[in-house]
Amino acid sequence: MFLMCIAEIEMIVDIKHAYKGMVTIQQTVEWWKAIVESMNDGVLAIDREGIVQTINPEYTRITGVTSDIIGKPLVSYRPGARLPQTLASGESQVGVYRKTHDREYIVDMAPVRVEGEIVGAVSVCKSLNEVQVLTRELEQQRQRVRELQEQMDALHKVRYVFEDIITKNAKMNELIGVARKTAKTDLPILIKGESGTGKELFAQSIHHSSERSSKPFIAVNCSSIPADMIENELFGHAGGAFPGASDNGKQGLFEMADGGTLFLDEVSDLSVDVQAKLLRVLQEGTIRRIGEGAERKVDVRIVASTHRDLDHLITKGQFREDFLYRLNTIALEIPPLRERKEDIPFITRSILNGKFRVDDEVMRLFMKYDWPGNIRELRNTLDYAMCLVNEGERISLSDLPDVLQKQHQLYSEKPKVFPLHEAVEEAEKSILQSALQSSGSTVEDRQEVARSLGISLATLYNKMKKYDIK
Ligand SMILES: Nc1ncnc2c1ncn2[C@@H]1O[C@H](COP(=O)(O)OP(=O)(O)OP(=O)(O)O)[C@@H](O)[C@H]1O
Ligand SMILES: [Mg+2]
Repeated sequence: MFLMCIAEIEMIVDIKHAYKGMVTIQQTVEWWKAIVESMNDGVLAIDREGIVQTINPEYTRITGVTSDIIGKPLVSYRPGARLPQTLASGESQVGVYRKTHDREYIVDMAPVRVEGEIVGAVSVCKSLNEVQVLTRELEQQRQRVRELQEQMDALHKVRYVFEDIITKNAKMNELIGVARKTAKTDLPILIKGESGTGKELFAQSIHHSSERSSKPFIAVNCSSIPADMIENELFGHAGGAFPGASDNGKQGLFEMADGGTLFLDEVSDLSVDVQAKLLRVLQEGTIRRIGEGAERKVDVRIVASTHRDLDHLITKGQFREDFLYRLNTIALEIPPLRERKEDIPFITRSILNGKFRVDDEVMRLFMKYDWPGNIRELRNTLDYAMCLVNEGERISLSDLPDVLQKQHQLYSEKPKVFPLHEAVEEAEKSILQSALQSSGSTVEDRQEVARSLGISLATLYNKMKKYDIK
């Protein structure tokens, strides 16, 4: 901007051309004077004798030199002035630091030429404070860009490594061993397990110990992206491919993950159409952006996860068998926490991080409880309790969330003796509930439930009515 001002001044002094559009010389002079006066930079110009001819209000504001100087030799007012040097040598001087009294500013100086002959010189200055403000702003913007870049990098970096998977369980250690070995290959991996068992922990650790660790790890939660958006997210689109598409086109997650790992979290939520397209990508190693003809090569390792029974989904036509074969090359099935209760004390200790301890009674409850939300639930339970007690205090039963306190009461109650028919009904109701819970609500789904329970559809509906199961 500062140099632009010098360019403007060079235009100003090239008044020869300005005559053309103006009616009189007087008008032309007024026109240029008005421009100089309205500038945000200080301007002072001398003629070939070194007499000051022009000074604008900004120059006065920055340097303190007033318009009294007009008509007088610059050196008589400002003995240290360097503008006369420019006049004599014809050489510009750029970014000269000046300080008079408590005023600091930066000056650019240039000779004024008319038809090649030096007829004067002009000095354009900017207060250093303003320069400093602009420099600071620039530095702040640069810092922001650096932070955003770091955030972008962090987004694509993994947080977890195998060492973070705390376990004493033999099956888990075996799984970690397989995962460590297969991490080094490019084979697809399918991680199965209930919610909160650590599927993402495994996926990130696999990426981290693979050759791809310096490249992006991109996690895509297939259940959270609307069905009509998923292809756009995965493959991107060409410029103007559909109404609302960006003009320059958009990179999809496959391209973003190039060289790295794409984690397809909850892969069972993809439609069979998208599964077919993904299968092609896995086979060909190429993707095609929506609305684009050409294929693009991508080098992406797929790790997928699911908490659902994919074989069951295949029988219902909701999952492609060929896609499962491809994903399943290596399958890791993470056991739920209730099947590795020996891990509970170790994971608890690690979460409490030496700052808190739990009462024996609490640990006994933890060991009895089934943890349907697995390690995530254990973590949330402890986070809750840690909020209630002070550091160093012991966590007792009363510091636990309601659901665990209720569970404790249930465990403590003496087993009631029911009349046999009530117990049978209770058991029947619970079996029906769990069978219906894990299936859909269409007639076909209900038929399947009835079949698996060995009863007719009519009996199923009668029992649902009897037990008020919706
Ligand atoms: N073995 C473990 N040791 C320590 N922390 C663990 C372990 N397994 C899981 N966690 C923690 O439990 C939480 C849930 O893990 P993660 O997100 O990997 O589960 P998930 O199987 O992907 O769950 P969801 O199916 O709900 O997505 C995380 O906070 C993770 O750090
Ligand atoms: Mg997960």
